[in-house]
Amino acid sequence: MSVELHFNHRICEAAYGSSLFDCAETMGIKVPTSCRKQGKCKECLVEVLEGMEFLSRPGPAEAHLKENFRLSCSCRVTTPAGVVRCHTMRRGEMRIERHAFDLPASHKNLRLEPTVTRDGSKILLDGEEIERSDGPIHGLAMDLGTTTVVLRLLNLETGGIVADTSFENPQRFGGSDVMARIHYDCEDGTKLLQRTLAGYLSHAIEEFPVEPNSIYEMVVAGNSTMRDLFFRLNVYPIGQSPYRSITEVEMAEGRRPTTSVTESAKRLLLPIHPKARVYGLPIISGHVGADAAACMLAMDLANEQRLVAIMDIGTNTELIVGNKDRILAASCPAGPAFEGGRVSCGMPGLPGAIEGVGIRGDGSMDIRVIGEGSVEGICGSGLVALLSELLRTGRMNALGRFEQDEDRIAVTSGEDGEIYLSESDVNELAQAKGANVAGLRVVFNEYGIGFEDLDLFYLAGGFGRHIDLESSKRIGIIPDIDEAKIRQVGNASIEGACIALLSRAKRDELEALVKRVVHCRLETDPNFFDYFVEGCQFKALCSRQRAGAQA
Ligand code: FES
Repeated sequence: MSVELHFNHRICEAAYGSSLFDCAETMGIKVPTSCRKQGKCKECLVEVLEGMEFLSRPGPAEAHLKENFRLSCSCRVTTPAGVVRCHTMRRGEMRIERHAFDLPASHKNLRLEPTVTRDGSKILLDGEEIERSDGPIHGLAMDLGTTTVVLRLLNLETGGIVADTSFENPQRFGGSDVMARIHYDCEDGTKLLQRTLAGYLSHAIEEFPVEPNSIYEMVVAGNSTMRDLFFRLNVYPIGQSPYRSITEVEMAEGRRPTTSVTESAKRLLLPIHPKARVYGLPIISGHVGADAAACMLAMDLANEQRLVAIMDIGTNTELIVGNKDRILAASCPAGPAFEGGRVSCGMPGLPGAIEGVGIRGDGSMDIRVIGEGSVEGICGSGLVALLSELLRTGRMNALGRFEQDEDRIAVTSGEDGEIYLSESDVNELAQAKGANVAGLRVVFNEYGIGFEDLDLFYLAGGFGRHIDLESSKRIGIIPDIDEAKIRQVGNASIEGACIALLSRAKRDELEALVKRVVHCRLETDPNFFDYFVEGCQFKALCSRQRAGAQA
C-alpha cells in the first residue's frame, strides 16, 4: 500500500516516510532549493490542495507558513494509504500575462537612452565606471504582482528582449492579498517574504541564457505593497489609514524628493552584477502603485491628447482617467472573487479551468476549458461569461438571485464532482464588482465626464485581456461603451518597466507625471456607499445622465 501523490499534475506512489521533495525528484519535477533539503532556504514551497491529514505535522522549519503551504523537504507521508494533491509555485502552465498588445508606446519604438552605457570596454552607470568588459550589457524589467511575477531580460544596447519568464509569487505563503502580506511582514520582522522571493528570482536569473554578471540594472513595477516589500521597506503605513507607502509619507514630510526607490542588487540578494542598481518606479499614491505608473508610461499618457481610461481589474483594481493635461486615479479594493478566490469552484487561469460559458436554447451549458485535461473549476473570464449568460437567459436576476428556487446552478460535472455557482458565490462577485463600479463612478464624477466621453478605454492586466467584452458590459463590470473604443492590452505594466529601463528621458517623464496625478480616495467620497450598492447589481453600467434620460 502507498499514498497516491498528485504533484504538479503528475502521479506517483509515495512510500510511507518519504518527503514530498524526494517524491518530486523521482518524478523529475524540479523543486526550487538553495539549501539541498536542509529546511533552511524556505524555497521548496508546495501548496497542498488535498490530503494534509496524510502528511507529517509542520515542524519548526515550517512555523512561518500559513494556510495549506508546506516545505516539501520537511513534509513527509505518514500514512500507508490515501490521496495527496499538491503543487509547487506554478510556472509555465499558469496563464500569466507576459505580453502587451496594441499600446501607443513600446520598448520597440523607443530612442535608446539607458542609464547603463559603454565607453570602449568601460561599462558606465550614470556615467561612472562600474566594470570593464567587452561583453553585452543587460538589464532586467520586473512586473511584481501579488499573485504573479513577470521578468524580462533586455539587451540595453539593442533594446531587444533576450528572454522572459514568469511564475507564481512565492510570497503567497504569507497570505493571498496585500493586507495579509503587510501583516505577515510586520509580525515576522526578518524580511522572510523578500528573501523567499529573492531566492526564486535568483533561480530565474540563473536560468537565463546570459552571464548574470552582465546584468547592470533592474527596473521594478509593482503595486505599492509588493514594491515596498521587495525593497525591504517598512510596509506598516500602507496597511493603516490613510494607506500610504513609507516613501509617500517621507516625501510629504520633505525627506525625499520622489516616491521612487533605488537600492543595490546586493542588498536585495540578487545574483546580478554586484554594482548593479535596482530602481523601483514611483508610486502614484496610496494603493495606486508603481504598476499603475508603469501603465501610464506604456499608454504614453504624458503626451496623450485624447481622453483615456486605464483599468487594471484585480484583487485591487486600479483606475486612471485623463490625458496629458489632467489625470485622476483611484484604487478599488475588489478582493479576489474575479480571480477565483472565495468562490466555491473558483480557480486561477490554469489547465482545467472553464474560461468561457454559453447557455443553449435547451438550457444546457456549452463550456470552453483551458488545456485538454478534465474540468477542475472556473476562472475569472469563465465567471464573467457565466454570470452574463445566467442574466441573459433569465436564470438570474439583476440582484444576483436565482429565479428557479435553486441555491446553486450546475455548470458541468468534473473529475472530482460537480462544478457549480451558488448564490453566495454570486454575492462575492457582486461585491467585487460593486467596488470597481464605485471607483468608476467616483473618478468620472470628479472629472465631470460620462463614460461615452472617453476616446479610449484600456483594459490592462491578465483578467482584462481574457474577458469577453459583451458579457462584461452586460453584467456591468466595465462601462457600456462602444467596443471600438476598448483595448485589451495585457501586461502594460511590464512594458512600462521596459520603457523605463531603456530610456532615462522616459523615466524622468514618469517621475514628473506621477506628481501631477490627483488621487481620488474612495473611502472619503460621500456617495461611495450608494455607488457600491448600485454596482453590486448585474446590469449595464451607463453614465448617470444617460441612465436618468432612459428612465
Ligand atoms: S529545500 Fe531549502 S527549505 Fe526545503
